[in-house]
Amino acid sequence: MSAELVCFEPNCREHFAITEIIYNCTRCGGLLETNYPDRKLDSAQLKTLWRARRTCNQPLDQSGVWRYREIISFLENFDSVITLREGNTPLLPAPKAANYGGLDRLVFKHQGFNPTGSFKDNGMTCGVAQALRLGMKRVACVSTGNTSASMAAYASAAGIEPLIFIPHGNISYGKLAQALEYGARTFQVEANFDQILALVRVLAERLGIYLLNSINPFRIEGQKTIIVEMLDQRDWSVPEWIVLPGGNLGNTSAFGKALRELKQMGFIHRMPRLAVIQAEGSAPFYELFHSSRRESLAAVPHPETLATAIKIGDPVSWTKALHEVTASEGVVEKVTEQEIADAKAVIGQCGIGCEPASAATLAGVRKLTAAGTIPHDADVVAVLTGNVLKDPDYIYRYHTGQLEAPGNVRIQSTFGNQPILVPNDADKIAALL
Ligand code: F0G
Repeated sequence: MSAELVCFEPNCREHFAITEIIYNCTRCGGLLETNYPDRKLDSAQLKTLWRARRTCNQPLDQSGVWRYREIISFLENFDSVITLREGNTPLLPAPKAANYGGLDRLVFKHQGFNPTGSFKDNGMTCGVAQALRLGMKRVACVSTGNTSASMAAYASAAGIEPLIFIPHGNISYGKLAQALEYGARTFQVEANFDQILALVRVLAERLGIYLLNSINPFRIEGQKTIIVEMLDQRDWSVPEWIVLPGGNLGNTSAFGKALRELKQMGFIHRMPRLAVIQAEGSAPFYELFHSSRRESLAAVPHPETLATAIKIGDPVSWTKALHEVTASEGVVEKVTEQEIADAKAVIGQCGIGCEPASAATLAGVRKLTAAGTIPHDADVVAVLTGNVLKDPDYIYRYHTGQLEAPGNVRIQSTFGNQPILVPNDADKIAALL
């Protein structure tokens, strides 16, 4: 089956070889996507095959990404695939969160169950497979933390060198710790995410290092399988809404591409609507979506949010994301720091838990149901993007009333749960109980 890279810009659509090492169209500068010109898939046959692979012990079939390899067929063979058994993340019903969000029912697709604790693993196994196929010895990314944790793990597993660039002081310790533990050379740069991305692109070009940010179209291919797996788990029943947090907007692009391809090939017969949720202090995509002319994105020069994963002012994939949200008749919402913090605590009370950026989903759902955009009886899947242990410092501060939003604004610990200091005395503890 042939695969190629194509410029995403509708007026350009320049074609490139699948093995070309480029991240933007060399003619117009547009984003690139993979394309499979003569692909014909039998949806009924593949649904059965994909289900059967779940019971197989072959590494490729055990991966919740490569199990669906027919839909991400950019490799000639699978010799370069490194799998840590990514994907395979559960759908978790959460009645308490549904109630908080104004819904009769709500299901979380929890990407925090991935090997490095975030959805980035779905894409990284593909990005690293492409790096190996191209014979690259070093890979690099700038990250708000999860991409770097994931890249460090997959590159080290593959025997190539991970080089990580992170905004100094602005990523959670859980994520930084992962990068160090997985053996990445880690550079803390005195700049924000958007500035460092520009820097890393220069270095990648100059030193011949392969770039594994979400601008890399092969990572987007892998993230498509989050949608494929979710639909497979629902026996191909399409939800009405899929809610996800938006930062650099790679995931939004991936979800939209997956849905378009699945519909085009007859796996599904209608599109769910995408609802992308941003943090109020880092919401350039929200502003773009709600402007009268959605022509160019005005970057937020100093993005702010305690949900550091989505602290991005100049999202690189906005053109793709705008296309996908529009094509799905979706919406973009923004939520405050307090709304994120409280929604996160409610997700915790469900016994599920997630990192701050992921909780933007429930905060967004609550806002969208209150506004009547999402009806209370809608069938909604919200994607939790990262594991609860990614940012324990945030959790401790919230529950003990010490969490402060940018600008020294104290977050109310609405659902606070303080640890109780007690003496080593059974009578006194029994009295408290
Ligand atoms: N949620 C989490 C937990 C993330 O780590 C990210 C992005 C997002 C949501 C937003 O996804 O960028 O595809 O819109 N983290 C990137 C990183 C930027 O470097 O780890 P997006």
